[in-house]
Amino acid sequence: MKILAIETSCDETSAAVVEQITKDGPVNVLSNVVASSMAQHALTGGIIPEVAARNQIHYIIPVIQEALEKAHIANGPDIDALAVTYGPGLIGSLLVGVETVKTLSYVWNKPLIPVNHLFGHIYANWLSNELPTFPAIALIVSGGHTDLLLMKSHDDITWLGGTRDDAAGEAFDKIGRLLHLPYPAGPLIEQKAHLGNPKAYHFPRPLMHDKAYDFSFSGLKTAVLREVQKLDQLSQATTNDICRCVQDAISDVLVHKTLLAAREYKVKSILLSGGVVSNQTLREKFNETAINHKLSAKIFAPQKSFCTDNAAMIGAAAFFRKIPIAWEEVSANPELYFD
Ligand code: KG4
Ligand code: ZN
Repeated sequence: MKILAIETSCDETSAAVVEQITKDGPVNVLSNVVASSMAQHALTGGIIPEVAARNQIHYIIPVIQEALEKAHIANGPDIDALAVTYGPGLIGSLLVGVETVKTLSYVWNKPLIPVNHLFGHIYANWLSNELPTFPAIALIVSGGHTDLLLMKSHDDITWLGGTRDDAAGEAFDKIGRLLHLPYPAGPLIEQKAHLGNPKAYHFPRPLMHDKAYDFSFSGLKTAVLREVQKLDQLSQATTNDICRCVQDAISDVLVHKTLLAAREYKVKSILLSGGVVSNQTLREKFNETAINHKLSAKIFAPQKSFCTDNAAMIGAAAFFRKIPIAWEEVSANPELYFD
């Protein structure tokens, strides 16, 4: 079965053709095309929703065409179903993907599967030949979300906790702004952290030892602001040190809480997902800490291009999560959380 999936929840416009040969088996990516308006948002230091939406309109048709061509699909009707992100996200951006896919569903007479973007991130872990087994703990860490979930099966998923204020990616981006780094700052903070001294600052690890599986990162941002305000001048070396200590603080909290949940629920798999999981140091810390604590659960992380927003992950989620619904009943829901 082949699905054409579309993702337009924020500033990426993506279309992918994905295929599943055996039920519940791995999902193969036949094409995954991503266009981004990130460069324009870097100029303004953050996303302006209207600019993101206008760019979605600009990119959507060429991106779908390219995804079909790369998957050698000459006729749209040769795919078996359509999938689309219907929330959460920016309303203007979501509408472009949702309304485009509804039109295709009507014209091609193909079933349409609406997908929650957050589940999409988790299911990026099924875009691989080695599949997770249940029960599993799933961590989503992106620009908009930090959530921890318990998955007993594809249909039995419980939310354990999430951020009370800033998401982890948002913390990287806002701290980057304090350090005069362009948006999105996460990848740059990772680069600079390699050159920084881990002992230069001790930033707070908010809620790390709290029993609830909640997160909070806004205090970390305030702690960095205080340090920056003390400086006459922000040198390269100081920037590197702050990047290193911020990355360590965020990673410590994410690793500690996730592994705690994995132990409590005696899971077989730990599923990492979301843009922040592109961070190689964070991935290594997860693996090293799990080994040091003799945790038997296996850690999964999608390949880096499937961590940030993409349509292949939306297609993967569509195979496992939901039955199709009539196109007339699909509508964008920017406030969607866990359905
Ligand atoms: O999942 P994603 O593409 O978009 C959302 O759904 O939000 O995540 C984007 C976030 C941004 O905040 C970005 O700074 C962060 O992921 N990010 C990183 C890295 N690469 C992207 N954060 C830390 N280290 C990275 N290497
Ligand atoms: Zn995302």
